[in-house]
Amino acid sequence: MQTNESKINIIEDFEKEIKNLFEKYSKSKIFIISDENIVKNCFHFSHEIVNLKENTFILNAGESNKNLDNLSSIWEFLIKRKADKKSVILNFGGGVVCDIGGFAASTFKRGIKFINIPTTLLSQTDAAIGGKTGINFNSYKNEIGIINFPEQVLIFPEFIQTLDNEELFSGYAEMIKHGFISGKEFLDEVFAFIETENLQANIGKFRNLIERSVNIKLHFIKNDIFDSGERKLLNFGHTFGHAIESLFNETNRKITHGKAVAHGMIFELFLSNQKLNYSLKDFLDYSQKIIRIYGFLSFKKEDIKNIIDLMFHDKKNSDDKILTILLKETGIATFDNEISKKDIEESFNFYMQLSK
Ligand code: GLY
Repeated sequence: MQTNESKINIIEDFEKEIKNLFEKYSKSKIFIISDENIVKNCFHFSHEIVNLKENTFILNAGESNKNLDNLSSIWEFLIKRKADKKSVILNFGGGVVCDIGGFAASTFKRGIKFINIPTTLLSQTDAAIGGKTGINFNSYKNEIGIINFPEQVLIFPEFIQTLDNEELFSGYAEMIKHGFISGKEFLDEVFAFIETENLQANIGKFRNLIERSVNIKLHFIKNDIFDSGERKLLNFGHTFGHAIESLFNETNRKITHGKAVAHGMIFELFLSNQKLNYSLKDFLDYSQKIIRIYGFLSFKKEDIKNIIDLMFHDKKNSDDKILTILLKETGIATFDNEISKKDIEESFNFYMQLSK
């Protein structure tokens, strides 16, 4: 298993990079895992990819497809196409494709090479980097998997222009998170870009933000690949965010991962202020910004009870305690902060007041 950091390239000429890749590995050794949306929106960026139909496995789009049945279908496909130890898998898509494709490659013949080509902002700044691979199992998210690094990550920021607004803003939330845990300078630049800049008109600046976001993620994983210490700080906003996302999914209310995490950050900033004295002014300013960008979520009384139940199932907890990431200051994050049911209720009481 390869556990070192992968080569990560932010590229400008996609067609040329893929051509180089097809020269490096022979065509019959390359396999593509992708999904139906990427076929429609991104395949035409490279002739080589369009022409490799027989070695391409297409998933249906969506998180529910990151499952054992599809993993097994990918293994069968690789066997049928005579993939071997010298083969390389290109995971061309968002987080789902990179996760399941990376896991398929890591387990096929005890591990073959894979390259991530992330197409969403969420995967370019988070999912495709850091070596997390896996699938959901029964109702548990990312329950089965392995940390194994791709050979290379090719990031082509122009793919972001193929996203709808919901997906784009879902990705922005991970950039905002990187700002909160790394420092005010990056955070304020990200907020300013989201609120005032036009992505199409300013792709150069956007490219720079992606690059810095990737470097922030790499900084937090470099000494803690297996998630026992500072890598946990990358979960800022996710303790509440995951619970909100699960509640919305279970009650058929649509929410993107990033929007749930963005709101999760408001709750975790509230508790940061209460417990670690995070600046009240910054907390209120940043919460208002998040609400301005992502809108306000409404919660009924029973939702809060359900969220508390869901949070006690969060995978970051041990011994029935809820542990979360809190900030002393923007850029000074701490992990393993214990929070109680009462803390959660108080943070919801505060959140409800924000709408008034
Ligand atoms: N998405 C958080 C991590 O890679 O650790």
